[in-house]
Amino acid sequence: MTSTVRIEDPSIAYSTERSLGVGGVSAADLEAAAPAARAAADAFAALVESGRAVGLDEPVLWPRLGEGDPGPLEAVRSWAERVRRADTVVSVGIGGSYLGNRVLRDALLGPGWNERDREGRGDRPELRFAGYHLDPAELAALVDLFASRSARGPQRVELLAISKSGTTVETLATTLVLREALGQLPGVEVRLAALTAPGTPLAELAAERGEVLPFPEGIGGRWSVLSPVGLATAAASGVDVDALLDGARAVRSVLLSAGGELDRNPALRYAVVHRLHAQRGRSGAVFMPYAERLRCVSEWYVQLLAESLGKARDRQGRRVHTGRTPIVAVGTTDMHAQTQQHQEGARDKTVTTLDVLDWGAAEALRVPELPAAGRLAGRRVSELNRYAREANEVALAGDDRPSDSFLLGRLDERTLGGLLYLLMASVAYEGELLDVCAYDQPGVEAYKRVLRERLGTQPA
Ligand code: PA5
Repeated sequence: MTSTVRIEDPSIAYSTERSLGVGGVSAADLEAAAPAARAAADAFAALVESGRAVGLDEPVLWPRLGEGDPGPLEAVRSWAERVRRADTVVSVGIGGSYLGNRVLRDALLGPGWNERDREGRGDRPELRFAGYHLDPAELAALVDLFASRSARGPQRVELLAISKSGTTVETLATTLVLREALGQLPGVEVRLAALTAPGTPLAELAAERGEVLPFPEGIGGRWSVLSPVGLATAAASGVDVDALLDGARAVRSVLLSAGGELDRNPALRYAVVHRLHAQRGRSGAVFMPYAERLRCVSEWYVQLLAESLGKARDRQGRRVHTGRTPIVAVGTTDMHAQTQQHQEGARDKTVTTLDVLDWGAAEALRVPELPAAGRLAGRRVSELNRYAREANEVALAGDDRPSDSFLLGRLDERTLGGLLYLLMASVAYEGELLDVCAYDQPGVEAYKRVLRERLGTQPA
């Protein structure tokens, strides 16, 4: 059995070299799991075909990547065209209505996008995020930022409030606060669009004071990154949205044609390998990109895995309290923080690394050939990054601690679209292996009920 499954285009390799034969999970265990893996692959293929998941009224359409009704994507593209002359786009939303847009900005444009001047951004607006918390100081700081600029001349700010339900406290409150506060600033023109389902409070607000973009049917928040919901601000920032979707479609056809074959289907292999480790007590899932640009992929994956698979009951109604616990880590930063725990702490986790083979222009960065550099002299920074990752993986395996790795050929739209689709498919497969519904989130209702009661009964 091979240890690396490769997709050629877009270039994504998944290696289990250090997660099989480590920690009590062998290649034979993987082979023994083949029937369950085939059943999971068949169930996913049926979901792609039918758009239906067991026990859900709403269809599940994320695997179709926007094929079907072109209306929502066209609406988002024309909104993106309208706002490209704005100074700033503020995306307001939380959970799945935030992380998809954020992951595309950080990975493709860089977390420092707003620090570039307009020319450096290719004549595109700044892209900021709000509403993904209720931190009053952060929100006040955002208002202050616009206030400090208002003396310098007119500015145009486009708010895009994203909320499927249109009732989410963070999104509604932040949208209302920002619209009011920015509207009072001299020289600030503030416009509002809402990406939401019809008839929601947010839709009503935007219909009165702005425009409403349709939240596509069959797309749950955390599954929305490659739908018009997640692609909206990327389109406004000049990201090649078609290349993202093409990359995802290319991976989809690899996964569907590989079906239950664990040597050809990296998403299924990933799901099965992690299921086997979880069955041996390793249900902590450290997801560790070796790149600042990919930190957000980890945050996005954490939400996808936690909310999709952390369930009290399986689809038969039995109490299972299942799902792995995802943990964000970033290399090499967290090798000086979390790695001590990963290497010597409880044997309750796996580490998945994510790296990029070719960093393009950044490959030119080398350590100068000076005596002080010692063995580092002349080394590329990307090479040091790779060696550090491999050292982490080898050290973990040396103490019988498993890690697996994803390696991207480069970081571009096509490859990122493919990776995000692969990870979504892996969570769908894992849901099948666990026999839980990956598309609902009943667990978040408990705190929402308490919050509603408090908002209804307590004076402000
Ligand atoms: O993935 C999900 O379903 C959630 O994380 C939602 O995206 C999040 O709760 C925000 O919900 P809404 O889009 O209704 O504001």
